[in-house]
Amino acid sequence: MTQALHKLATDILQINDRGSYTVPTKGLYPFQWNWDSCLTALGQRHFDPARALTEIETLFAHQWPCGMVPHIIFHLRDEGYFPGPDVWDCGRPVPTSGITQPPVAGFALRRLLDSAPDLRMRARPLLDRITAWHRWFHATRDPKGTGLVALIHPWESGRDNSVDWDVPFERVPTSGIAPYTRRDTQHADPAHRPTKDQYDRYIWLVERFRGLGWATEKLHDASPFQVVDPGFNAILIRSCLDLADLAEDLGAPDIAAANRGFAHAGLQALEHLWSEARGQYLCLDRTTGALIDSPSSGGLLPVFAPIPQDKAARIAATIDGHGTQYRVASHAPGTPGFDAQRYWRGPVWLVVNYMIADGLDRAGESAAAIAITRSSLDLIGSSGFAEYYDPLTGQPLGGGQFTWTAAMVLEFLSGARRSMGNDTSA
Ligand code: DGY
Repeated sequence: MTQALHKLATDILQINDRGSYTVPTKGLYPFQWNWDSCLTALGQRHFDPARALTEIETLFAHQWPCGMVPHIIFHLRDEGYFPGPDVWDCGRPVPTSGITQPPVAGFALRRLLDSAPDLRMRARPLLDRITAWHRWFHATRDPKGTGLVALIHPWESGRDNSVDWDVPFERVPTSGIAPYTRRDTQHADPAHRPTKDQYDRYIWLVERFRGLGWATEKLHDASPFQVVDPGFNAILIRSCLDLADLAEDLGAPDIAAANRGFAHAGLQALEHLWSEARGQYLCLDRTTGALIDSPSSGGLLPVFAPIPQDKAARIAATIDGHGTQYRVASHAPGTPGFDAQRYWRGPVWLVVNYMIADGLDRAGESAAAIAITRSSLDLIGSSGFAEYYDPLTGQPLGGGQFTWTAAMVLEFLSGARRSMGNDTSA
């Protein structure tokens, strides 16, 4: 069973490999996506660490001069995706989108180099590049120096249609946008994707930012959508800490100090987002200053960062309390907005499972981490390498032969071998 899964996962990573970058899946996502690529590298490290490093290097070759790393790199034309490079119109030599995505690169690079130390010198320039991205976040997305950065578009979170965005998204208008045709619903069941109303708002924001010439220092204040996502910030904090460790090992104390400073400020501020009632963290609507009382996986993800031990234990209990056959539901079942099949409003995503399990394990919550690992591998065994899964039935949803799902399986298999004494057949 383990060997068969390993082979299937490796095959998918190779099928979706375009030489120097990997597409998330054929058809639905035909370009390079930012956090997909970094997490993909973690899968590639199991059979070709040098290729894994190329994945991250290719992404950073398209970093903007301001430090931002775009969420999509449009390496080749493909009319099967909307919104394509003409809609973004960012004026880059190789077209890119103009927004960013969860900054998981620092974490991924460290994990890759931990298992492939011979690549360290080749990877050294990435330390500066990733730090420039972290600086950019703090300069442009935390203009008041709160310690936490805001998203200005739901696509930046990676959790595109989360219930978390429903209230702040009402502030984004839909009038005046250019007519468009969605392509995603030609590749995946519309009932499992965001709604038309959400797409109108996604596009309104893109047009708003495009109208400001993609001057990234202006976009935060100009956006009617400014949300502090605890999960996104935890990923940034973890990446800062991992990059700081790497920088210390490679004799770059300035890089280490800058990243530790960001992480320290972030960890302190994160505690203001804790909800005792929910047993997890919550998003903050920065335009109103109100917490968004929506129990989604974004509020469980902070365990990926070194949060206090008692909070990690509460998060483990909160996940248990979901009571779903498969974990971790992206929105708490039985609460308003939950939809077991619609993208980020309920389905299980293996990348989120991986980060939560990793954090729980580090926090000493090993039983909870093993339960997530087992549940993830059970899903793959019964439902294949889908984009996401119904947490109640395990039904595979969205795109198939999904790259980051395959990458996470390789990670889970190697971690499971360690933590479950090589018994991954169950
Ligand atoms: C999409 O097109 O669905 C993406 O999530 C946007 O990056």
